[in-house]
Amino acid sequence: MNQPYILTVLGSPRGRGNSETLADMVRARLSEAFSFNGETVRLCKITVAPCIGCGGCEKTGMCVVKDDMIALYDKIDRADLLFLASPTYFYGVSAQLKAFIDRGQARWSRKYLRKERFRTGDTRAGYLLCTAATHGKRLFEGSELVAKSFFDGVDIPYGGACLIRGVDERGAVQDNPEIDAQVESFANTIINQFIL
Ligand SMILES: Cc1cc2nc3c(=O)[nH]c(=O)nc-3n(C[C@H](O)[C@H](O)[C@H](O)COP(=O)(O)O)c2cc1C
Repeated sequence: MNQPYILTVLGSPRGRGNSETLADMVRARLSEAFSFNGETVRLCKITVAPCIGCGGCEKTGMCVVKDDMIALYDKIDRADLLFLASPTYFYGVSAQLKAFIDRGQARWSRKYLRKERFRTGDTRAGYLLCTAATHGKRLFEGSELVAKSFFDGVDIPYGGACLIRGVDERGAVQDNPEIDAQVESFANTIINQFIL
């Protein structure tokens, strides 16, 4: 596939934070292997309200809440690779990213209630990029379950995650050989899964 479209959704409210830098590092590695059209959405700079559970999307497949999420549905549909990047907040993703994920319900309704599939058979994948300050074994289980459920709802196969422990202060993901190796291995997995 030439020039895939990569959409990165940043869930951190902290500009130039660890999850954002992690996303930059992954994309930089990918750009050495293939060229792509990239777009980044910084959720804290736009308005994506939480789902109100009104059931409107069950009837039409469209969300009734008219905010910046409306423009993002098309971007999700267009994405060949979709990265969700988030800090770990209380063993989950940030509230900004969770609101975006919950609004994916309109796509879940399209797939499961309206039985409308979109781009099946295409090579697409969704990935989670997550950072956390501590080292717990189960640190990312909550976020990964949520991400897997989201990607299923928006009909994008889940490709995996790059999960970085022990990074708290801004910039902590940089200049760390162990993290560089993790990013390298993750990016290589994508290149093998997706491109080759
Ligand atoms: C509200 C809040 C909750 C947090 N909860 C956790 C947590 O449960 N476990 C953890 O290891 N780190 C936690 N952290 C630390 C962040 O996950 C960590 O600093 C992360 O690298 C920040 O990423 P960012 O710079 O992209 O925002 C929390 C930080 C904040 C502000």
